[in-house]
Amino acid sequence: MVPWGLVALCETRTMFLAGWCLVAANRAQQLPRPSLSLHPSQGVSLGDNVTLRCHVSQTAARVWLYKDGRLTSEKDIDKEQDTAEFSLVGIKQEDAVKYWCQYQILEPLWTSNMSDPVELRVTDPRYPPPHIFLRADEPVEEGMNVTIQCQNQNYGGIIFLHKVGHSAPIQHQEPNGGGTANFTLVGVTPADAGTYRCSFRAGGCCLLFSPLGNNVTLEVTMTHAPSGASPRSPDAVQFQVSVWVPPGDCEGLTYAELRAVTPSTCTPSPSAAPESPIIYAEVGTGRPC
Ligand SMILES: *[C@@H]1O[C@H](CO)[C@@H](O)[C@H](O)[C@H]1NC(C)=O
Ligand SMILES: *[C@@H]1O[C@H](CO)[C@@H](O)[C@H](O)[C@H]1NC(C)=O
Ligand SMILES: *[C@@H]1O[C@H](CO)[C@@H](O)[C@H](O)[C@H]1NC(C)=O
Ligand SMILES: *[C@@H]1O[C@H](CO)[C@@H](O)[C@H](O)[C@H]1NC(C)=O
Ligand SMILES: *[C@@H]1O[C@H](CO)[C@@H](O)[C@H](O)[C@H]1NC(C)=O
Repeated sequence: MVPWGLVALCETRTMFLAGWCLVAANRAQQLPRPSLSLHPSQGVSLGDNVTLRCHVSQTAARVWLYKDGRLTSEKDIDKEQDTAEFSLVGIKQEDAVKYWCQYQILEPLWTSNMSDPVELRVTDPRYPPPHIFLRADEPVEEGMNVTIQCQNQNYGGIIFLHKVGHSAPIQHQEPNGGGTANFTLVGVTPADAGTYRCSFRAGGCCLLFSPLGNNVTLEVTMTHAPSGASPRSPDAVQFQVSVWVPPGDCEGLTYAELRAVTPSTCTPSPSAAPESPIIYAEVGTGRPC
């Protein structure tokens, strides 16, 4: 009986010990590759638990999990199952690496190719979050270049620029000797407006990241009003006021019906126009009783 590990190594084509090895390697090409996923896939900190799921599209007998290139775990799964779960409990620094999976069927003996790797990125709260600064002449107008500076106190590694609302970092850079990275947004547009934060990946073996630091908010002013449409900002709302004062109302109070209208150069089509909001306000008439 050939040990399972050797079958796996054959597939990587680093070892061709015997004829059966070549056969296994060739057959592997015919099997669909497994896919590996991480749950949760984001926001994992040291000490958390995560699950790696290897999805196989064939009836597999055995599923292997590779950690940083080395076989670390194996699971036998039933014929009905198409997923093998590997739980990592209490994530440590050295768990923050890349993972792959692979599966094998026995009759006939076939070994799949490796899945694509999955990176287990772990937040290590012992690293200080980087500080962020907006280096721009304000107000920032459309088309200007804006520099966002991040400082990580000489921890080295790689500094990442995150934009709130985007799951992946939008830029990354190695800091200079002073621990500063300058991210330039060339020719900003209103789409660049938003809130930014930084993190950094520490140097060394593992995929360890600092927590996200403080934030800056970039506002981008339009240099010209866009033609055709008018802005629907609150200060662009006018009120049509009609006041009806009932005769003999001596409370000094009545209700005014305020109809909010948005000044507009284009008339919205009636079908598309929402009902104007009606606001009731108390007004004093000052009429003697
Ligand atoms: C398996 O890997 C080999 C070598 O990289 C490749 O030629 C083959 O297309 C792969 N098979 C599948 C199903 O991905
Ligand atoms: C991780 O799993 C272990 C064992 O299942 C459990 O005791 C622990 O509370 C879990 N930790 C977290 C942070 O969920
Ligand atoms: C913005 O940066 C680009 C590329 O570095 C440069 O060509 C351009 O002149 C800059 N624009 C302004 C307004 O400074
Ligand atoms: C970023 O810009 C500052 C000055 O604005 C400069 O001192 C620093 O060296 C720059 N850092 C990098 C990595 O270019
Ligand atoms: C930005 O930072 C301020 C002050 O710490 C905080 O109140 C605000 O919620 C942050 N904004 C975002 C979008 O994270």
